[in-house]
Amino acid sequence: MSQPGPPAMPRHVAVIMDGNGRWAERRGQPRSDGHRAGVESVRQVVRAASDLGIGWLTLYAFSTENWNRPKAEVDLLMKLPEEYFEQELPEVIERRCRIRTIGRRDRLPPSVRRSLEDAMTRTQDGTGMQLVFALSYGGRGEIVEAVRRIVRDHEVGRIDVDSLDEKLFTSYLDEPELPDVDLLIRTGGESRVSNFLLWQIAYAELHVSECMWPDFGRAQLEAALADFQGRERRFGQTSAQVRSTRGKS
Ligand code: IPE
Ligand code: IPE
Ligand code: MG
Repeated sequence: MSQPGPPAMPRHVAVIMDGNGRWAERRGQPRSDGHRAGVESVRQVVRAASDLGIGWLTLYAFSTENWNRPKAEVDLLMKLPEEYFEQELPEVIERRCRIRTIGRRDRLPPSVRRSLEDAMTRTQDGTGMQLVFALSYGGRGEIVEAVRRIVRDHEVGRIDVDSLDEKLFTSYLDEPELPDVDLLIRTGGESRVSNFLLWQIAYAELHVSECMWPDFGRAQLEAALADFQGRERRFGQTSAQVRSTRGKS
Protein backbone atom coordinates (compact mmCIF):
# COMPACT_ATOMS: atom_id res chain seq x y z
CA MET A 1 0.00 0.00 0.00
CA SER A 2 1.18 3.56 -0.65
CA GLN A 3 2.52 5.73 2.15
CA PRO A 4 0.43 8.35 3.93
CA GLY A 5 1.05 11.94 2.97
CA PRO A 6 0.93 14.05 -0.14
CA PRO A 7 0.39 11.80 -3.09
CA ALA A 8 2.80 12.13 -5.95
CA MET A 9 1.60 10.68 -9.22
CA PRO A 10 -0.73 7.77 -8.66
CA ARG A 11 0.93 4.47 -9.46
CA HIS A 12 -2.33 2.84 -10.45
CA VAL A 13 -5.23 4.69 -12.07
CA ALA A 14 -8.44 2.76 -12.72
CA VAL A 15 -11.30 4.12 -14.80
CA ILE A 16 -14.99 3.24 -14.95
CA MET A 17 -15.65 4.45 -18.48
CA ASP A 18 -19.33 5.32 -18.19
CA GLY A 19 -21.73 7.50 -20.14
CA ASN A 20 -21.36 6.35 -23.75
CA GLY A 21 -25.08 5.66 -24.13
CA ARG A 22 -26.21 8.98 -22.66
CA TRP A 23 -23.66 10.87 -24.75
CA ALA A 24 -25.19 9.41 -27.91
CA GLU A 25 -28.81 9.68 -26.79
CA ARG A 26 -28.38 13.39 -26.04
CA ARG A 27 -27.34 13.84 -29.66
CA GLY A 28 -30.27 11.80 -30.95
CA GLN A 29 -27.83 9.10 -32.09
CA PRO A 30 -27.89 5.37 -31.41
CA ARG A 31 -26.05 4.14 -28.32
CA SER A 32 -23.63 2.31 -30.61
CA ASP A 33 -22.28 5.70 -31.77
CA GLY A 34 -21.48 6.47 -28.14
CA HIS A 35 -19.52 3.25 -27.77
CA ARG A 36 -17.58 3.97 -30.95
CA ALA A 37 -16.80 7.49 -29.75
CA GLY A 38 -15.74 5.92 -26.47
CA VAL A 39 -13.00 3.97 -28.23
CA GLU A 40 -11.49 7.28 -29.34
CA SER A 41 -11.39 8.36 -25.69
CA VAL A 42 -9.60 5.13 -24.81
CA ARG A 43 -6.98 6.04 -27.41
CA GLN A 44 -6.54 9.56 -26.04
CA VAL A 45 -6.43 8.52 -22.41
CA VAL A 46 -3.98 5.67 -23.02
CA ARG A 47 -1.67 8.08 -24.85
CA ALA A 48 -1.97 10.74 -22.18
CA ALA A 49 -1.47 8.33 -19.27
CA SER A 50 1.58 6.81 -20.93
CA ASP A 51 3.01 10.30 -21.63
CA LEU A 52 2.44 11.26 -18.00
CA GLY A 53 4.32 8.22 -16.72
CA ILE A 54 1.41 6.41 -15.08
CA GLY A 55 2.60 2.91 -14.14
CA TRP A 56 -0.69 1.03 -14.29
CA LEU A 57 -3.91 1.99 -16.06
CA THR A 58 -6.94 -0.28 -15.69
CA LEU A 59 -9.95 0.37 -17.89
CA TYR A 60 -13.38 -1.10 -17.12
CA ALA A 61 -14.63 -1.96 -20.59
CA PHE A 62 -17.34 -4.54 -19.95
CA SER A 63 -18.78 -5.85 -16.70
CA THR A 64 -20.27 -9.25 -15.96
CA GLU A 65 -23.57 -7.39 -15.49
CA ASN A 66 -23.26 -5.89 -18.98
CA TRP A 67 -23.97 -9.36 -20.41
CA ASN A 68 -27.60 -8.58 -19.52
CA ARG A 69 -27.84 -5.75 -22.08
CA PRO A 70 -29.75 -6.23 -25.34
CA LYS A 71 -27.97 -8.71 -27.61
CA ALA A 72 -27.33 -6.14 -30.36
CA GLU A 73 -25.53 -3.85 -27.91
CA VAL A 74 -23.48 -6.72 -26.47
CA ASP A 75 -22.53 -7.82 -29.99
CA LEU A 76 -21.33 -4.31 -30.85
CA LEU A 77 -19.37 -4.01 -27.62
CA MET A 78 -17.69 -7.34 -28.36
CA LYS A 79 -16.44 -6.03 -31.70
CA LEU A 80 -14.67 -3.03 -30.24
CA PRO A 81 -11.69 -4.69 -28.52
CA GLU A 82 -10.61 -6.33 -31.78
CA GLU A 83 -10.94 -3.05 -33.66
CA TYR A 84 -9.02 -1.21 -30.98
CA PHE A 85 -6.13 -3.68 -30.96
CA GLU A 86 -5.99 -3.82 -34.72
CA GLN A 87 -5.54 -0.07 -34.92
CA GLU A 88 -3.61 0.70 -31.77
CA LEU A 89 -1.27 -2.23 -31.22
CA PRO A 90 1.64 -0.73 -33.21
CA GLU A 91 1.55 2.45 -31.12
CA VAL A 92 1.04 0.50 -27.88
CA ILE A 93 4.12 -1.60 -28.73
CA GLU A 94 6.12 1.49 -29.66
CA ARG A 95 5.26 2.98 -26.27
CA ARG A 96 6.45 -0.26 -24.66
CA CYS A 97 3.10 -0.67 -22.94
CA ARG A 98 2.10 -4.14 -21.82
CA ILE A 99 -1.49 -5.28 -22.24
CA ARG A 100 -3.07 -7.43 -19.58
CA THR A 101 -6.65 -8.45 -18.89
CA ILE A 102 -8.80 -9.28 -15.92
CA GLY A 103 -12.22 -10.89 -16.00
CA ARG A 104 -13.90 -14.02 -17.28
CA ARG A 105 -12.05 -14.49 -20.55
CA ASP A 106 -13.75 -17.88 -20.97
CA ARG A 107 -17.08 -16.10 -21.46
CA LEU A 108 -15.82 -13.95 -24.34
CA PRO A 109 -16.42 -14.93 -27.97
CA PRO A 110 -13.41 -16.89 -29.29
CA SER A 111 -12.39 -14.14 -31.72
CA VAL A 112 -12.23 -11.56 -28.90
CA ARG A 113 -10.27 -13.99 -26.76
CA ARG A 114 -7.83 -14.59 -29.58
CA SER A 115 -7.26 -10.90 -30.22
CA LEU A 116 -6.72 -10.26 -26.50
CA GLU A 117 -4.30 -13.13 -26.20
CA ASP A 118 -2.46 -11.96 -29.30
CA ALA A 119 -2.20 -8.44 -27.85
CA MET A 120 -0.94 -9.80 -24.53
CA THR A 121 1.66 -12.00 -26.18
CA ARG A 122 2.90 -9.28 -28.50
CA THR A 123 3.31 -6.81 -25.64
CA GLN A 124 4.54 -9.20 -22.94
CA ASP A 125 8.00 -7.62 -22.75
CA GLY A 126 6.53 -4.14 -22.34
CA THR A 127 8.17 -2.39 -19.42
CA GLY A 128 6.28 0.90 -19.84
CA MET A 129 2.72 1.47 -18.74
CA GLN A 130 0.84 -1.68 -17.81
CA LEU A 131 -2.51 -1.37 -19.59
CA VAL A 132 -5.17 -3.61 -18.09
CA PHE A 133 -8.54 -4.19 -19.73
CA ALA A 134 -11.33 -5.39 -17.45
CA LEU A 135 -13.55 -7.34 -19.79
CA SER A 136 -16.41 -9.54 -18.68
CA TYR A 137 -15.15 -8.50 -15.26
CA GLY A 138 -16.88 -8.42 -11.88
CA GLY A 139 -15.18 -7.78 -8.55
CA ARG A 140 -17.25 -10.24 -6.55
CA GLY A 141 -16.75 -12.95 -9.16
CA GLU A 142 -12.99 -12.36 -9.07
CA ILE A 143 -12.96 -12.74 -5.27
CA VAL A 144 -15.06 -15.92 -5.35
CA GLU A 145 -12.80 -17.35 -8.04
CA ALA A 146 -9.75 -16.57 -5.85
CA VAL A 147 -11.37 -18.38 -2.91
CA ARG A 148 -12.04 -21.37 -5.14
CA ARG A 149 -8.35 -21.55 -6.15
CA ILE A 150 -7.25 -21.16 -2.54
CA VAL A 151 -9.53 -24.00 -1.40
CA ARG A 152 -8.17 -26.25 -4.16
CA ASP A 153 -4.58 -25.46 -3.19
CA HIS A 154 -5.45 -26.12 0.43
CA GLU A 155 -6.98 -29.47 -0.45
CA VAL A 156 -3.76 -30.62 -2.11
CA GLY A 157 -1.65 -29.29 0.78
CA ARG A 158 -0.10 -26.41 -1.16
CA ILE A 159 -1.13 -23.79 1.41
CA ASP A 160 -2.13 -23.98 5.04
CA VAL A 161 -4.83 -21.85 6.63
CA ASP A 162 -2.44 -19.96 8.90
CA SER A 163 -0.36 -18.70 5.98
CA LEU A 164 -3.36 -17.01 4.38
CA ASP A 165 -3.01 -13.26 4.68
CA GLU A 166 -3.91 -10.30 2.44
CA LYS A 167 -0.72 -10.63 0.41
CA LEU A 168 -1.27 -14.32 -0.29
CA PHE A 169 -4.94 -13.72 -1.06
CA THR A 170 -3.98 -11.05 -3.61
CA SER A 171 -1.75 -13.56 -5.38
CA TYR A 172 -4.85 -15.63 -6.20
CA LEU A 173 -6.68 -12.77 -7.95
CA ASP A 174 -6.97 -12.53 -11.75
CA GLU A 175 -3.85 -10.39 -12.06
CA PRO A 176 -1.66 -10.95 -9.00
CA GLU A 177 0.72 -8.14 -9.90
CA LEU A 178 -2.03 -5.52 -10.08
CA PRO A 179 -1.19 -2.95 -7.40
CA ASP A 180 -3.78 -1.33 -5.14
CA VAL A 181 -5.68 1.39 -6.97
CA ASP A 182 -4.53 4.88 -6.00
CA LEU A 183 -7.02 6.85 -8.07
CA LEU A 184 -10.40 5.58 -9.23
CA ILE A 185 -12.06 7.76 -11.85
CA ARG A 186 -15.70 7.33 -12.84
CA THR A 187 -17.06 9.32 -15.75
CA GLY A 188 -20.74 9.92 -16.43
CA GLY A 189 -21.44 11.65 -13.12
CA GLU A 190 -22.67 8.74 -11.04
CA SER A 191 -21.07 7.90 -7.69
CA ARG A 192 -21.00 4.13 -7.61
CA VAL A 193 -18.50 1.37 -7.96
CA SER A 194 -20.54 -1.07 -10.11
CA ASN A 195 -18.64 -4.20 -9.04
CA PHE A 196 -15.23 -2.89 -10.16
CA LEU A 197 -11.98 -4.01 -8.47
CA LEU A 198 -13.63 -4.42 -5.07
CA TRP A 199 -10.51 -5.82 -3.42
CA GLN A 200 -8.05 -3.42 -5.03
CA ILE A 201 -9.92 -0.14 -4.34
CA ALA A 202 -9.81 -0.52 -0.55
CA TYR A 203 -7.93 2.80 -0.17
CA ALA A 204 -8.42 4.40 -3.58
CA GLU A 205 -9.13 8.11 -3.89
CA LEU A 206 -12.36 8.56 -5.84
CA HIS A 207 -12.85 11.12 -8.59
CA VAL A 208 -16.25 11.38 -10.24
CA SER A 209 -16.27 13.33 -13.48
CA GLU A 210 -19.49 14.78 -14.87
CA CYS A 211 -18.03 14.24 -18.34
CA MET A 212 -19.53 11.44 -20.38
CA TRP A 213 -16.75 9.04 -21.39
CA PRO A 214 -16.64 10.13 -25.07
CA ASP A 215 -15.93 13.70 -23.87
CA PHE A 216 -13.14 12.58 -21.53
CA GLY A 217 -9.59 13.13 -22.78
CA ARG A 218 -6.15 14.35 -21.78
CA ALA A 219 -7.38 17.57 -20.13
CA GLN A 220 -9.92 15.72 -17.99
CA LEU A 221 -7.32 13.12 -16.99
CA GLU A 222 -4.95 15.90 -15.96
CA ALA A 223 -7.76 17.50 -13.91
CA ALA A 224 -8.39 14.18 -12.14
CA LEU A 225 -4.66 13.85 -11.39
CA ALA A 226 -4.54 17.39 -10.02
CA ASP A 227 -7.55 16.59 -7.80
CA PHE A 228 -5.70 13.48 -6.58
CA GLN A 229 -2.55 15.44 -5.82
CA GLY A 230 -4.54 17.82 -3.64
CA ARG A 231 -5.77 15.04 -1.37
CA GLU A 232 -4.26 13.97 1.91
CA ARG A 233 -4.09 10.19 2.11
CA ARG A 234 -4.27 9.21 5.74
CA PHE A 235 -4.71 5.43 5.65
CA GLY A 236 -6.45 5.52 9.00
CA GLN A 237 -3.97 7.81 10.70
CA THR A 238 -4.60 11.36 11.86
CA SER A 239 -3.72 14.35 9.78
CA ALA A 240 -1.11 15.41 12.37
CA GLN A 241 0.59 12.02 12.14
CA VAL A 242 0.68 12.22 8.38
CA ARG A 243 2.16 15.71 8.44
CA SER A 244 4.85 14.74 10.93
CA THR A 245 5.82 11.68 8.85
CA ARG A 246 6.00 13.94 5.84
CA GLY A 247 8.35 16.33 7.66
CA LYS A 248 10.76 13.48 8.41
CA SER A 249 10.96 12.04 4.93
C1 IPE B 1 -20.29 2.67 -20.60
O1 IPE B 1 -21.30 3.43 -21.11
C2 IPE B 1 -19.93 1.52 -21.49
C3 IPE B 1 -20.30 0.20 -20.93
C4 IPE B 1 -20.90 0.01 -19.80
C5 IPE B 1 -19.94 -0.95 -21.71
P1 IPE B 1 -22.84 3.05 -20.93
O2 IPE B 1 -23.24 2.23 -22.10
O3 IPE B 1 -23.10 2.45 -19.62
O4 IPE B 1 -23.50 4.48 -21.02
P2 IPE B 1 -24.71 5.03 -20.15
O5 IPE B 1 -24.34 4.87 -18.72
O6 IPE B 1 -25.91 4.21 -20.53
O7 IPE B 1 -24.82 6.46 -20.57
C1 IPE C 1 -20.04 0.18 -15.42
O1 IPE C 1 -20.98 0.91 -16.14
C2 IPE C 1 -19.38 -0.83 -16.31
C3 IPE C 1 -18.47 -0.27 -17.32
C4 IPE C 1 -18.15 0.97 -17.46
C5 IPE C 1 -17.88 -1.25 -18.18
P1 IPE C 1 -22.51 0.50 -16.14
O2 IPE C 1 -23.22 1.52 -16.95
O3 IPE C 1 -22.67 -0.90 -16.55
O4 IPE C 1 -22.87 0.63 -14.60
P2 IPE C 1 -24.28 0.80 -13.89
O5 IPE C 1 -25.17 -0.26 -14.43
O6 IPE C 1 -24.76 2.16 -14.21
O7 IPE C 1 -23.97 0.65 -12.44
MG1 MG D 1 -23.59 3.22 -17.80
